Amino acid sequence: MARHEVVVVGAGLAGQRAALAAVEAGRDVAIVSKLHPLRSHSGAAQGGINAAVGAEDSVETHIFDTVKGSDYLGDQDAIEFFCREAGPTVVEMEHFGTIFSRAPDGSLARRPFGGAHFPRTIYAADRTGLALLQALWERLGSERFTLYEEWDLTNVVVRDGRVQGIVAFDRQKGDFAEIAASAVVLATGPSGRIYAHTTNAHSCTGDGVAAAYAAGAALKDMEFVQFHPTALLESSILITEGARGEGGVLTNASGEKFMVRYAPHVKDLASRDVVSRAIVTEVQEGRGFTGPYGPYVHLELMALGRERIESRLQEICDFARRFAGIDPVTQPIPIYPAQHYMMGGIGTNARGETSVAGLFAAGEAACVSIHGANRLGGNSLLETLVFGKQAGLAAAAYAEGAPAPAMRATDLEEATAPLRRWSSRTDGEDPSALRAELQATMERYAGIYRNEADLMEGIRRVRALKARFERVRVVDRSSVYNLNLTDALETGHMIELAETIVVGAYARTESRGAHARTDFPARDDARWMQHTIARRTPEGPNLSYAPVGYTRWAPTERVY
Ligand code: FUM
Repeated sequence: MARHEVVVVGAGLAGQRAALAAVEAGRDVAIVSKLHPLRSHSGAAQGGINAAVGAEDSVETHIFDTVKGSDYLGDQDAIEFFCREAGPTVVEMEHFGTIFSRAPDGSLARRPFGGAHFPRTIYAADRTGLALLQALWERLGSERFTLYEEWDLTNVVVRDGRVQGIVAFDRQKGDFAEIAASAVVLATGPSGRIYAHTTNAHSCTGDGVAAAYAAGAALKDMEFVQFHPTALLESSILITEGARGEGGVLTNASGEKFMVRYAPHVKDLASRDVVSRAIVTEVQEGRGFTGPYGPYVHLELMALGRERIESRLQEICDFARRFAGIDPVTQPIPIYPAQHYMMGGIGTNARGETSVAGLFAAGEAACVSIHGANRLGGNSLLETLVFGKQAGLAAAAYAEGAPAPAMRATDLEEATAPLRRWSSRTDGEDPSALRAELQATMERYAGIYRNEADLMEGIRRVRALKARFERVRVVDRSSVYNLNLTDALETGHMIELAETIVVGAYARTESRGAHARTDFPARDDARWMQHTIARRTPEGPNLSYAPVGYTRWAPTERVY
């Protein structure tokens, strides 16, 4: 049995940063990843990373923008720490070799992003995630660690109240294996594939969050799901907020720049929840376009001119040309909101500690919470690096003093017995069909606008899928790269997480940030300025509530 002091699951920015911190602290570290690290979804982040670095901007304003953006559900102490770490984090990544775009005077170029009082989003054209990922991977490559590549996480093993290691599926060998570890850091990224339309990669199935939930860890604020306003019609590929930061505008079927009616001060650069709702409202009230791929509105960049579009927005130009057959230099881009980010996740503090001893989490898989009910664009890349490092440091410190992990010979058998049954069935449910039904259900019943009847129906449908998943069948008997088995594993994870989303959304009888209830349109601070905590029980998620970390910013009406 393999054995390490710290095992990091996930090799995107949060996982790599955690691993680097733990290696530098002197621990024996392994990374377990379902993908090659450079294929992680962090590489799809386009628009940039926030840091108040110029003389005109201030950390205080970044803190306030993030608190307001969160609709006062973010923990203010954690947000203060996060924003103070932003400058040093960006400088460190620059020293690791990230090629950031530059202003004419050679300083770091910054662009406006939604919900920010100042242009504070530092970028590398519209490939910022990829630039950071490559630099960090090169830096990490100079250290000693073990990489388990193309391994799917199946279980976190917890006994005697603490983590003992993990069980995973080695795709290349086609077998399950256990890895003993004193500390485990879950940095498995997004779970957006729960929805039919998402900017997330196909790999984003919430494996770490589901494994933590199954192992007894508390999930936090799962009902808060962010929809990015501008996803390319049909494919839902991200069209960066940076496009509006550079001066792009949204228009409806009459050519009207409609955001002025929803956010009179900042218009197209309101926060994402506001802009996404505005687009849906335009369509619902008959002012959008309709076509074979559904309703849409336009994102117009033409006024920016070819030189600016092709130099600062290279990647989205390429996507629009290849996947929509339109040229943004001369034509509007058809867009519609798509799921983009989960504000909820494995509940942690700012050191990445979860409710289970020895289990840590960071990045999108975690919920610290700094984003509260709505994340600001550009705060996600920063989150991966700031809290990836903290989780790595905390895991290293924990592992140094922890007893040796006590995995038992029976752990592997116990963890994988249900999964082995999937392949021995002669009849049962197709995981791909269950996945497709789940995605359609979540899109329809737990989308941008929600209400009691829809959420109740969503719960009923997700629970029906959960029951059918008990009879899931893997027909492919091959061992090497059995993607039918991977599909079943991922689908099981997504159904579990979907249940926490719909149950949490049903219970929260208010509107806050990305959680917009048409039957409860107002924010209700007296009742609901609280985090939702979900713990797994055989009957479904058990919900409780925890106070928001509050320091200096009293909740006020959120207007953009
Ligand atoms: O629009 C974007 O470029 C996305 C950035 C983010 O989610 O932070």
